[in-house]
Amino acid sequence: MAVNHLGIDAGQLEGATLALLPGDPGRVDLIAATLDDPTALASEREFTTWRARTSGRPVVVTSTGIGGPSLSIAVEELAQLGVRTFVRVGTTGAIQRGIAPGDVVISTGAVRLDGASRHFAPPEYPAVADFGVAGALIEGAAANDIRFHLGITASSDTFYPGQERRDTYRGYVLPGLDGSLAMWRALGVLNYEMEAATLFVMASTMGLRAGAVSGVILNRAETESLADGAVAVAEQNAVLVATSAAGLLVEL
Ligand code: URA
Repeated sequence: MAVNHLGIDAGQLEGATLALLPGDPGRVDLIAATLDDPTALASEREFTTWRARTSGRPVVVTSTGIGGPSLSIAVEELAQLGVRTFVRVGTTGAIQRGIAPGDVVISTGAVRLDGASRHFAPPEYPAVADFGVAGALIEGAAANDIRFHLGITASSDTFYPGQERRDTYRGYVLPGLDGSLAMWRALGVLNYEMEAATLFVMASTMGLRAGAVSGVILNRAETESLADGAVAVAEQNAVLVATSAAGLLVEL
């Protein structure tokens, strides 16, 4: 029987226990195409799913949409179908100097600026990556000669005010968010994205494994503008790291 939102059933996964999770449905076929035997399974709302193979074993690639709430649906339903290891592959804005567009961030943990993770554990509970998955991502970066940064990510529910963006329609952020980017930078946070905290808390509380790699599309210590081609390079590098890691993780 197909799960509620993803529109796939366990038989279609052919026993896959590892999922690659981009946000963008348009990236799923591109990621699957870098693996062996890519096969489209379903496309429902923001959730597009393909199956492929790496090291001879099945893996599933499912888009989560943007943010924790929709990611939580994808992770829940993939877990129902037998997936036990989750690798988020996304994009990010760096906030520390010395992180260049095209580098990747491998998150060891995430500041819980989301709401969805609170539906799985109280705010005192840490959002941490699985060390085995993070280690495989490090090996994936090294194998592809991609510069990586290892550390803490901030996962925000919103792209604009939660990441203290002022180049917006209203140009205003609430007092509670005013100065938040500088604060997270002072506390050593590397980058902003929108999904890792929900993923990490779900995985830890449910006995699953999760990691996250994000391609850097801009460094907000230097600019608020995207350079031409920056997104494509960041995505490509994050995908290389994640698919290399998948090859290691399915063999474990
Ligand atoms: N994704 C985010 O959430 N923030 C950025 O700055 C870039 C990508």
